[in-house]
Amino acid sequence: MTHVFTIAIDGPAGAGKGTLARRLADHYRLNLLDTGLTYRAVAHAMLQVGLPLDNVSAAETAARQVDLAKLDRAVLSAHAVGEAASKVAVFPTVRRILVEKQRAFARTPPGAVLDGRDIGTVVCPDADIKLYVTASAEVRARRRLAEIESIGGTADFAEILADIMRRDERDMGRADSPLKPAADAHLLDTSEMAIEAAFLAARAVIDDALAMRNRA
Ligand code: DC
Repeated sequence: MTHVFTIAIDGPAGAGKGTLARRLADHYRLNLLDTGLTYRAVAHAMLQVGLPLDNVSAAETAARQVDLAKLDRAVLSAHAVGEAASKVAVFPTVRRILVEKQRAFARTPPGAVLDGRDIGTVVCPDADIKLYVTASAEVRARRRLAEIESIGGTADFAEILADIMRRDERDMGRADSPLKPAADAHLLDTSEMAIEAAFLAARAVIDDALAMRNRA
């Protein structure tokens, strides 16, 4: 049986895990899944028809309809959709439906980089590599503000920071699959690190693991 290689990347919103996941998937020629988009797709479907976000059975139906091949980042990246995603993500039944789909994706050769909140702990506990990417809330808020300003927008730093802290609290505090580093995850704190440095640090960890495997 050919081995399917899995890289699990977890961390809070805005830590840079999405960019890192994309760079690593390109470099190692693996499939890529931003699992946040699956929760966003559920939230977006509910917002579109005006369903309250605490309607669990509607959220389950929306989760069943999520098609990983049709996740539209442009539509799903809206800030309000991320907030709503964090709310529907607390329902265990919704998580179970989406996790099934995420696992099927991970099992597809040649393997994948998956990023999210519970990849190393729940979705792919046997991943070859687990990275936990973090940065202080202030640094993440500053990056978010710079991103908004770079496309001509304006925003208030204090509001962005409060938002990030609220989202962290919800993602880390929920009962089912809270955001936390897996016991065997490599921690990457990007507070003082540019994305290129994080990419190189991650590659060093992965190349080590690949060399060990080839020796075995
Ligand atoms: O990474 P993101 O901002 O696109 O994620 C949106 C929300 O989805 C996040 O606040 C919590 C939820 N999520 C989750 O619960 N588990 C994941 N594996 C990915 C995202």
